[in-house]
Amino acid sequence: MNTSRRGFLRSLGVGTATGIAVQWPLTSTLRAEGFEPSRSSQELGLILLSSNENAYGPSPKVIESMKSSVNGVNRYPRLEYQPLVERIAGLHHVKPDQVLLGCGSTEILRMAAFAFLGNGKQLIQALPTFGPIEHYARAAGSEVIPIRLTRDFAHDLDGMLARANSSCTLVYICNPNNPTASLTSRNDLETFISKLTASTFVVIDEAYHHYAGESGMYASFIDRPLGDERVIVARTFSKVYGLAGLRLGYAVASPKVIQQMRKFATEDNINAVVTEAAGAALDDSDAVNDFVRRNANDRQEFLNCAMGHALKPIDSHANFVMMNTFHPAQEVIEHFRRSGILIGPRFPQMDTYIRVSLGRPEEMQAFWTTWDKLPYPKSSMHH
Ligand SMILES: Cc1ncc(COP(=O)(O)O)c(C=O)c1O
Repeated sequence: MNTSRRGFLRSLGVGTATGIAVQWPLTSTLRAEGFEPSRSSQELGLILLSSNENAYGPSPKVIESMKSSVNGVNRYPRLEYQPLVERIAGLHHVKPDQVLLGCGSTEILRMAAFAFLGNGKQLIQALPTFGPIEHYARAAGSEVIPIRLTRDFAHDLDGMLARANSSCTLVYICNPNNPTASLTSRNDLETFISKLTASTFVVIDEAYHHYAGESGMYASFIDRPLGDERVIVARTFSKVYGLAGLRLGYAVASPKVIQQMRKFATEDNINAVVTEAAGAALDDSDAVNDFVRRNANDRQEFLNCAMGHALKPIDSHANFVMMNTFHPAQEVIEHFRRSGILIGPRFPQMDTYIRVSLGRPEEMQAFWTTWDKLPYPKSSMHH
């Protein structure tokens, strides 16, 4: 093991590889499934249930396309941007000038913050929700107004409306929401948007779209657009497509809004490998369906195990699950970390909840084995 990796492990508080209590034969079981183990689990000996990635991806076809693209990385991929934009536009039946690429959807959030916020303006968002846009809003000089989720873990749209005065120029809606994996109803969102003032833009972050499934509660604002100039939808290749490490996201919005946001894009923000990989990932719809199906199985299995432990996780519409441990989350997080399992961080206002990204079956088995070793009285957890 090289020194930087050892340093990384130390910084995580898991000691050296020999000290990690990961005993199951990770590599061999994963190989048997036809998927290579991810670099991180293989080299670090860690189980990563912390960032809501696709534990199985990318698909073998996507990996092949990446291999063939690396020879071209001496060149800026400028000739590839437009074909990729057109490909995404075609997928969503919109015009190419309605699509904007970003270095991850995080860059889309940054562009939205700088395009629509600034001194004296306000961002309204849920508490808790996905964090980065809040930081960009502050960097742009704006105030952030966090509104707690409802008891059902939906966005409190009435609470948000009550705070949406004329200086609130941007609302961030994460649906399904990270970290709770919960949905906010499509009907309620439509009513909410219709009541916002004309100068308030709305970012709808659909990072977990593919996992939300079909229900009366949910419909993508790309698939069923409102035709409203103020709505910006953010999507990413980091989740179901399994390309978190390659950094690609995009926005779908009106041409005018796209133009405003584009001013804040980093020049050449898209790399020469992902321009190829994204096309291959979109072509491989069998793999996408397979990932969604695996996630549904893994999610059901997690819920079954949780119920077997007398736990009641929040109903998940994503590739991660949040649940109340009735114990300080930080201590639970550290317990897992000492066993080489990284789970999500502590979230504001949910001090006893943990967020667990769904991993492969054997990784989840390790999660539950480690859960059973929690040194706290079980009764305190059985509320
Ligand atoms: C809601 C949400 N939006 C965006 C992202 C960031 O994705 P990207 O890798 O595209 O920047 C994440 C990643 O965890 C997320 O949970």
